[in-house]
Amino acid sequence: MQNKEIKNICCIGAGYVGGPTMAVLAKHCPNIQVTVTDHNLERINDWNSIDLSKLPIYEPGLDEIVNKYRGKNLHFSSEVEKNISIADMIFISVNTPTKTKGVGAGKASDIKWVEACARQVANNAKNHTIIVEKSTLPVRTAEVIKNILESATSMKSQKNPSISFDVLSNPEFLSEGSAIQDLMHPDRVLIGGEEESAIDSLTEIYSNWVPKSKILRTNIWSSELAKLTANAFLAQRISSINSIAALCEATGADIREVSRAIGSDSRIGSKFLDAGPGFGGSCFKKDILNLVYLCEYFGLPEVAEFWEGVVKLNYWHQDRISQLVVKKLFGTVTGKKISILGFAFKANTNDTRESASIKICKDLLEEGAILSIHDPKVDSDQIAKDLKMKEKKSFKRDKLIKENTQEGNWYFSDEIYESINNADAVLVLTEWVDYTNINWDKVSKIMRKPSWIFDTRSIIEPGKVIKTGLNFWRLGDGLN
Ligand code: UDX
Ligand code: ADP
Repeated sequence: MQNKEIKNICCIGAGYVGGPTMAVLAKHCPNIQVTVTDHNLERINDWNSIDLSKLPIYEPGLDEIVNKYRGKNLHFSSEVEKNISIADMIFISVNTPTKTKGVGAGKASDIKWVEACARQVANNAKNHTIIVEKSTLPVRTAEVIKNILESATSMKSQKNPSISFDVLSNPEFLSEGSAIQDLMHPDRVLIGGEEESAIDSLTEIYSNWVPKSKILRTNIWSSELAKLTANAFLAQRISSINSIAALCEATGADIREVSRAIGSDSRIGSKFLDAGPGFGGSCFKKDILNLVYLCEYFGLPEVAEFWEGVVKLNYWHQDRISQLVVKKLFGTVTGKKISILGFAFKANTNDTRESASIKICKDLLEEGAILSIHDPKVDSDQIAKDLKMKEKKSFKRDKLIKENTQEGNWYFSDEIYESINNADAVLVLTEWVDYTNINWDKVSKIMRKPSWIFDTRSIIEPGKVIKTGLNFWRLGDGLN
């Protein structure tokens, strides 16, 4: 079959993957009209907002691209069906959360949104259409999509033989916080599929900005499994280094020195060896649990257990941090104020999905702490949703003590020193650059004594804190 000329692209799902990916595609393909659609009208309105600070996603460099190409060849629309009907190629970038009930609950991904998209495509496509799955999916989802498309269109295509579909897997490897850079200069682009002409069409699009040598062709299942495996390997490195951090604290070693030493072995490499409060983000846990489910399903319990260990270690590690804070504060945090610096799962994003801050804050609230939470990009509504607890806006320690409140409370603080003022402890959970320039002399004067600083991200210079008389603990430091 001849390569199909792609003039109109529709992306279903205007989230952390769909939005940035299509923005970069539009930037590099001026002859293609790219429309990002979503059934969430509010989200689409935010993408269309004139005030660029209102874009639903914070990613460095994204606002600039949206500003330049929106209205030219980049569009955001809630008219999903209409845009499907005029598209030559459709990207599926919808969310695939872990199933909460039924078969595979707690492990397998729920692909109901992907299924819904396949049905929408089947009912609305008018011509030969290439479907590209971008969402992180369990292996063999492309087959599900194909089956739905085939059965739903068999009747239609008898009347209109020009309706047909090719399904490709093109997993996204962007990392939030550096998504635009990752998309512009990917290590590789993976295209899995059966139909050569469809693969060629997508290759041609990427070739506008990605060297051909970086575009890898695989069969469709390899492509899907490669995505799960890449995330499992990355997450495994983090659980590995976090486990050694605990051992460093016990033995007097320093995790930063250990990381540097092992990372200089070229077989291991230096990336992804930063000990932290445990991995978060929408992909790692979900993808590993998917892998675990697959292994169980295919009768490989030992393999399933091996990978599940990576997630278990992550839970244990987060628990360890909250327990350690309580222990250092004389075994109780009830009525104590703790300034939480950082709620996003990593720096340079407003995403909080699976953030270590959620679990750690919940544990501290359970212990009765009063948290003043600061984050440069996450807002208080999102934090309330994640903690499943309303914000107590007017915090007065004396009042709470008088009322003998044993329950934990939290409030959002939009200024770092306000958050720290009168606190018993500061807990750094996200590596925002804003937290690297804190004036510790000033901090030592505004905290309640004895005061503790906990750094889980190794972004604070210990000497600067210790010289002010503040107590200092950092992750993986045997001298703590
Ligand atoms: C990840 C993969 O990197 C990306 O390829 C895939 O497409 C989606 O999942 P993302 O979750 O956006 O991307 O961020 P990533 O940079 O991988 O960080 C994930 C978590 O690991 C964060 O909580 C981060 O703080 C943590 N992390 C990362 C560490 O604790 N230490 C490290 O050395 C690196
Ligand atoms: P990701 O990180 O994978 O991009 P997000 O949750 O940020 O995930 O984005 C997924 C988007 O997909 C959401 O905005 C959601 O409203 C949208 N979505 C899910 N199902 C459909 C559908 N059937 N039609 C249109 N949009 C959908």
